[in-house]
Amino acid sequence: MSVYSITNPDCQEYFTSLCAEESDIQCSLKALVATLDKVPPMYIDALQGAILAFLARSIQAKNLLEIGTFVGYGTLWLSRALLPDGQITTCEIDKRWWPIARQAFEQAGVSQQIIQEKQAALLSLKKWTSFESPPQFDFIFVDADKSNSPIYFEHCLKLLSPNGLLVMDNVWWQGKLLDENYSQKRAQVLRKFNQDLAKDPRIDLVMLPISDGMSLIRKRLS
Ligand SMILES: C[S@@+](CC[C@H](N)C(=O)[O-])C[C@H]1O[C@@H](n2cnc3c(N)ncnc32)[C@H](O)[C@@H]1O
Repeated sequence: MSVYSITNPDCQEYFTSLCAEESDIQCSLKALVATLDKVPPMYIDALQGAILAFLARSIQAKNLLEIGTFVGYGTLWLSRALLPDGQITTCEIDKRWWPIARQAFEQAGVSQQIIQEKQAALLSLKKWTSFESPPQFDFIFVDADKSNSPIYFEHCLKLLSPNGLLVMDNVWWQGKLLDENYSQKRAQVLRKFNQDLAKDPRIDLVMLPISDGMSLIRKRLS
């Protein structure tokens, strides 16, 4: 089963084959997930991973944050952007995925540069924002429980470095946001969140029609 993507499948496959080659470890992670009962392939797609790594590398991101590790597939894409003294912090609430992700980071030789926050992401975010000097992240990728996206956004904005980039995933929500009668709570939250972001004077926003929709957000420096 492939991950949902807005993009035409032939186009997706063609571009992926040219610029988004997965590592053997990433392929193994996908194969492992495919053997698990009732676990959907929740990871980003390869093209999206390549774009995230490209963006993080473009801004020379040193301190990266991911909300929603799952088995570490997306983290491994981000790790391609790691500077020698860079670091990724990745948050995951579900303990089933912690050792799988750790093993993948070790196999990829990047475990020294990856910190796993093993609790609800909101606890980590609240902890950091409560510090007198909160940590600053240059690149933040939010890909966890979507009903918390608005609150993650508010915390992440405080933790984003002045020239940092914040990326929110699944902002297209498989097109379901277009249907006003679609009553799923997550869809309602996301619909309002997208509308709020579009008129938020604190940020610059662009929404990319790739994968399941990605919002790229920068702090407006005035
Ligand atoms: C879409 S998956 C992340 C996929 C990952 N970014 C990738 O591309 O490989 C979402 C993950 O967020 C985790 N998650 C859900 N709610 C969370 C929470 N409150 N705090 C931290 N992680 C959470 C889920 O357990 C799941 O593993």
